[in-house]
Amino acid sequence: MMRNKIFEHHIRYLNELFDFLRIPSVSADSAYRQEVMHAAEWLCGSLSSAGLDKAEIFSTDGFPVVYAEKIVDPMYPTVLIYGHYDVQPPDPLNLWISPPFQPEIRNGRIYARGACDDKGQLYMHIKAIELMLANKDLPCNVKCIFEGEEEIGSDNLGKFIHTNRERLKADVVLISDTSIFSNDTPTLTVGLRGLSYLEVEITGPNRDLHSGVYGGGVANPINVLCRMIASLHDDNHRITIPGFYNDVLSVSEEEKTMMNQLPFSLEEYKDQLGIEDVCGESGYNTIERTSVRPTLDVNGIWGGYTGEGAKTVLPSKAFAKISMRLVPNQSSEKITELFIKHFTSIAPSSVKVNIKPHHGGEPCLTPVESQEYRAAAHAFEEVWGKKPIPVRSGGSIPVVSLFEKILSLKTVLLGFGLDEDNIHSPNESFRIDNFLKGIETIIAFYHHYAELKKI
Ligand code: BES
Ligand code: MN
Ligand code: MN
Repeated sequence: MMRNKIFEHHIRYLNELFDFLRIPSVSADSAYRQEVMHAAEWLCGSLSSAGLDKAEIFSTDGFPVVYAEKIVDPMYPTVLIYGHYDVQPPDPLNLWISPPFQPEIRNGRIYARGACDDKGQLYMHIKAIELMLANKDLPCNVKCIFEGEEEIGSDNLGKFIHTNRERLKADVVLISDTSIFSNDTPTLTVGLRGLSYLEVEITGPNRDLHSGVYGGGVANPINVLCRMIASLHDDNHRITIPGFYNDVLSVSEEEKTMMNQLPFSLEEYKDQLGIEDVCGESGYNTIERTSVRPTLDVNGIWGGYTGEGAKTVLPSKAFAKISMRLVPNQSSEKITELFIKHFTSIAPSSVKVNIKPHHGGEPCLTPVESQEYRAAAHAFEEVWGKKPIPVRSGGSIPVVSLFEKILSLKTVLLGFGLDEDNIHSPNESFRIDNFLKGIETIIAFYHHYAELKKI
């Protein structure tokens, strides 16, 4: 049985994963450049050792793409595996119980930056393939494409996929970079939100000023920025950018019923987050607000004096990083344009506005009526004992729409994370049993998919 075989090797799997997690491959911060490159090399070596062929590092204008393949039989269906070896910055460091790049096991969980997002989940695939190869039981051809720029928007991946479209020919894409509702209620992600990310800069006077001598007479760019940001939502928490909702598709009653089947407890949700109440768009519940509705959030805001003590200063500049999550049929480029137009128009004449778009990604929806969905659902049922519920997730994975657009490929999102894994947060972790069950589910997917493709 596969479960026993996986268990037999699990100490080695964990040790190898720990080596991977020790490499601080933070793509957002140029101080870690060499480490991101190192992670690519490590991964390439790991693919070769697992028995894959043609493991190679392809450079791009950004961080490299790691590729490998195993063509077992040209008649077999081909599964294209995607994952990312870059991770989010680990800050704030002081909130980590154990250091982010010194993986540690506590309470059956692996604690490290990237444990779940996405090194741990990516590594399940390499071990699944290794095990099937060792058993001479790999029923599909596989091609792996692992990138190092997912957390910064996958800016160079479209070009790579386009240039290598022959090499990447496949029947389906398989990605483990999402989560399930809970181990008792497995879910299969069938939709992701898109993203528009921008940085805004508000400039007031040409230099920092004494806030007593000038205060009251000159626009304070931080005050102005706060007012501008506050005006982006109305009292119903709807976004006020003209045209923002124009392309939004409403969700069918049928899908609403389906998603509200989840045993979601608002009390537990609030408890876990330490909040007295939730907040969001009127007319929608928390599941809907975080999956099928578009949003706008400030991710960071700064300016003026933030050091110790007090300094009386009227700053020259204020900044904010703003993201908008998009839902199917909205276009990242269009929304970015609408934002820029609106944000510029609401600025008072006492300041100047400069907006720098960062990156974007398109939303996606994957069909539940497909062979690949059925294979994935079947695999879940077999390993987790329950039929998975199809759900849409609020996160974004820009590559999914690129695969669809450039290669006409559908994606299966076979993720095993949990909300309590704290991805992008201090003390990120991944349950060891989810890591091992994930390997088992992936192996089951290959078999069910190959079976369905035969007919
Ligand atoms: N793995 C996440 C996306 C995710 C997490 C989807 C949980 C569903 C459930 C991915 O690494 C991620 O964080 N993506 C970024 C987008 C990117 C363009 C910066 C995100 O969603 O913020
Ligand atoms: Mn991820
Ligand atoms: Mn992420």
